[in-house]
Amino acid sequence: MKRVLGRVLVSRQEIHNRTAELGRQISQDYAGESLTIVAILKGSFVFLADLIRQINPEIPVEIDFMLVSSYGNETSSSGTIVIEKDVQIEIKGRDVVIVEDIVDSGLTLSHVYRILHDRGAQSLRVATLLEKPGNSKYERDLDYVGFKIPNSFVVGFGLDYAQRFRNLPDIRILDEI
Ligand code: IMP
Ligand code: MG
Repeated sequence: MKRVLGRVLVSRQEIHNRTAELGRQISQDYAGESLTIVAILKGSFVFLADLIRQINPEIPVEIDFMLVSSYGNETSSSGTIVIEKDVQIEIKGRDVVIVEDIVDSGLTLSHVYRILHDRGAQSLRVATLLEKPGNSKYERDLDYVGFKIPNSFVVGFGLDYAQRFRNLPDIRILDEI
């Protein structure tokens, strides 16, 4: 089976507009407070870069990263989560927003949420560029969702297939032929 780039599912312009809306929402929700962002590497880095520049600069924002693996090079979840790199900043007492590229099974997110909760985050919310339907192991509502997409494998805008395609400026479907 071969995988080839398919059609554009979400264009760069749509992502730009939606990210601006999410930034406005976050700026309203955290007005007068400060914010700690924990971005899940690698996929979220492109979305993160755009999102943080849409947050009101008067809000103090801290940013750190966790590198979490669940997929290997396959397009379905292995069910095993490994923390390859942890955050270095203090989580206790912080108002945290977890930034994800995509929530599929929700396994990665549930795992990270539990870790940050156990470390004493004062509040925890989630921002994700994409959400796939159904089979979510994450049992809460997602707070900031860019786009709900159908259950196809997508690449681009930070999302990869076997570490490729992260640099594509739009979200595209990866077709099997
Ligand atoms: P989950 O644990 O099943 O929710 O999967 C989360 C991680 O799997 C994401 O952070 C992505 O890195 C990866 N992933 C899930 N679906 C896709 C996809 O369609 N394209 C690229 N990566 C994906
Ligand atoms: Mg990935």
